[in-house]
Amino acid sequence: MVHLQNIITEEVAKSFRSIVGNDHFFADEASLQHYSRDETETLSFAPQVVLKPATPREISDILKICNERRIPVTPRGAGTGLTGGALPHLGGVVISTERLNKILDIDERNLQVTTEPGVITEILQNAVAEKGLFYPPDPASKGSCFIGGNISENSGGPRAVKYGVVKDYVLNLELVLPTGEIIWTGANVLKNSTGYNITQLIVGSEGTLGIVTKIVLRLIPLPKYDLLMLAPFASLEKACEAVSAIFRAGYTPSALELMEINALKIVSSMVDTHSMPVNDPIEAHLLIEVDGNDADVLLKEMEQIAGVVEQYEAGELLLAEDAQQKEALWKLRRKVAEYVKMAGYTIEEDAVVPRAELPKLIRGLKALGRQYNFDAVAYGHAGDGNLHIRIKKEGIPNSYQNPEMDIIIRELFQLIKQLGGTISGEHGIGLIQKGFMDIVFEERQLQIMRDIKKVFDPNNILNAGKIFD
Ligand code: LAC
Ligand code: ZN
Repeated sequence: MVHLQNIITEEVAKSFRSIVGNDHFFADEASLQHYSRDETETLSFAPQVVLKPATPREISDILKICNERRIPVTPRGAGTGLTGGALPHLGGVVISTERLNKILDIDERNLQVTTEPGVITEILQNAVAEKGLFYPPDPASKGSCFIGGNISENSGGPRAVKYGVVKDYVLNLELVLPTGEIIWTGANVLKNSTGYNITQLIVGSEGTLGIVTKIVLRLIPLPKYDLLMLAPFASLEKACEAVSAIFRAGYTPSALELMEINALKIVSSMVDTHSMPVNDPIEAHLLIEVDGNDADVLLKEMEQIAGVVEQYEAGELLLAEDAQQKEALWKLRRKVAEYVKMAGYTIEEDAVVPRAELPKLIRGLKALGRQYNFDAVAYGHAGDGNLHIRIKKEGIPNSYQNPEMDIIIRELFQLIKQLGGTISGEHGIGLIQKGFMDIVFEERQLQIMRDIKKVFDPNNILNAGKIFD
C-alpha cells in the first residue's frame, strides 16, 4: 500500500535546515535511534531526519515539501504512547512538537486554557490549579506525556470515571493539514452545533489527519478535598464485581482503579514505599478515590462505599491518612505499566468492556493464558470497564507481526467484542492494533475512515499505515 520512497535528498535536507534552523535539524545516529522508539513494546524504526520546528508556520512549510515529494511524516509528542503512534515505521521525517511548549493563555473569566501541544500534561494541570482550576484527564504518564499526544490518543486516566476523557474538554484546535494549510476546527465555546464536528474528529485521530499546534480546553473548578482508600480482595473476580456494585449503590468515585497482585508485587519491589500490604491470599486491590468540596460529606460517602465493597469479601481497608500516603499509593499505581514492562510483560492490551462484564473478561483472560501458556497481569481503570492487560510470553517481546501472538490477541479481542466491548479504551490503535480492526468494524465502517483520511491527506504522507493500512 505504501509506495513512498526515501527521497530526502541533499536539496530537501537543505530546505528543512533553512525552515527550522541548523540547530533543530537532526540526522545523527544517536538522535535517529532516540526517535525510533516510543513506549510500545520493544519496537524500533529509525527515521531519516528529525525536525524540531517552533511554530505552526514552520510545520506548514515542512509539510508542504513532504506533501509535494511524498515523504512520510510521523508527528511525535513525548513518545509515551503504547500502540506505536509515534513510531516512524516508514522512515522519512519525524516532526517533534517539543519546542511548541508554551501555555499561551489561562482565561479565568471563561474557565479555559489555550496551550501549545508540547506542554507536559502535569505542568498544564499544575498551572491551572494555581488559579483554582481543574483539567482532570490524568494519564499515568502525566509527568512526562504531552497534552498534544493526549489529544491524538483521546487519553483517559484514573479520573475519567467521574470527569470524562480528553475529548470532553477540547473546545477548539489549531491544525496544520498534511497539505500545509493552517485551520481552526471549531470555536472557544461550550456548546457548538455548527456543522460537522471537526474538533472531535481530530481528537483521537492519532496524528493521521493533521498536526495540532494550538489547543483550547475547557476547565472546571478544582475540587477542594479528596479521600483515597485501598481495598484488598481475596478474589480478583470479586474485586471486579465490587466495582459495578459501587455505581449501582449510587456512588461515582473520582477514581476506581484495579491492580492485580502481581502488578503490585512487581511495583512495590521497585518503588521505595512501605505503605502497601502485599499479603499472599490477596489477588487484587481496588484504589478508590472520592472528591468534592465538603470534607464531611466525602468521609460519609467513603464509609458507605466501604460498606459496599465489604459485601464482596474485601479485606482490611486502608484509608490514606495524609497527602504523602495518597501520593505513595498513586505512585504505585502510576508506575505499573513501566515497571511491569521491565519485568518482561512487554505486550500491552487496552481492553474496554461494559463495566459489569469485567469478571467475565478476567475469567476469559485467565483461561486463554492457560491454553496458550502466557502470563498476564491486569490493572487499570476498572470503574470505566477499561483494563490494561500486560502479557509476558517467553521469547516473544513484541506482538507486532508475530503470528503466535496474533492468534492469542485475536481470541482475546473476540472475547472482548462478544462482551460488548472494544479493543482500545485510551491507548489508540496506532501500528500494533491495526490488524485487529476487522474484529470491531465491518468493511464499510473502515472504508468511511479511509475516505476521511483521503480528504485530509490525499497523498497519504502523514502517519500513514497507522489505525489502518
Ligand atoms: C495506565 C496507562 C498505561 O493506566 O494507561 O497505567
Ligand atoms: Zn490507563
